[in-house]
Amino acid sequence: MERTFLMVKPDGVQRGLVGEIIRRYEAKGFTLVGLKLMQVSRELAEKHYDVHREKPFFGGLVDFITSGPVVAMVWEGEGVVASARKLIGATNPLSAEPGTIRGDYGVTIGRNIIHGSDAVETARSEIALWFGDNELAAWEPSM
Ligand code: CMP
Repeated sequence: MERTFLMVKPDGVQRGLVGEIIRRYEAKGFTLVGLKLMQVSRELAEKHYDVHREKPFFGGLVDFITSGPVVAMVWEGEGVVASARKLIGATNPLSAEPGTIRGDYGVTIGRNIIHGSDAVETARSEIALWFGDNELAAWEPSM
C-alpha cells in the first residue's frame, strides 16, 4: 500500500496545529502508521532538504526546521502521496486554496506549517530517512 511522509514544521507545532492536521488526514480516511515528535539535527535537516542545497533559502530553511520540535508522520492509503499534497495546498500559503492546510493557516512561504513528500519515490526515501522499520506499525482499519 502507498505511503507518504508528512512533517508538521516548528511553526505548526508552536501554533497548536498538530491535532487539527492529524484530524484532517484521519477524517479523509488515511491510516496513520508512524508518528513521533522530535528535535531535528542539522544533519537530518540537511539530508532531508538536500535537493535545495544550492538555493538561497537553504541555510534559513535548515535553521528553521532545527529551531524547535517537529512532528514526523507516515500515512498510508491508496493515492496518499498526491492526495496528502492536495490537502496541504500550494507551497506559498498565499497562493494555497482555502480549505487546504496552508490556505487556511499560513501566510509565509518559509513558515508553511507542513511538509509532504512530492512523489511516491521521494516518499520512500524520506520515510527511510526519518523512520526505522520498527517505528512503523502495519495495521488495517476495520471499517
Ligand atoms: P517544503 O514543502 O517543506 O519544501 C521545501 C521548503 O522550502 C518549502 O516547503 C518552503 O518552506 C521552503 N521554501 C521554498 N521556497 C522558499 C523561499 N523562496 N524562501 C524561503 N523558503 C522557501
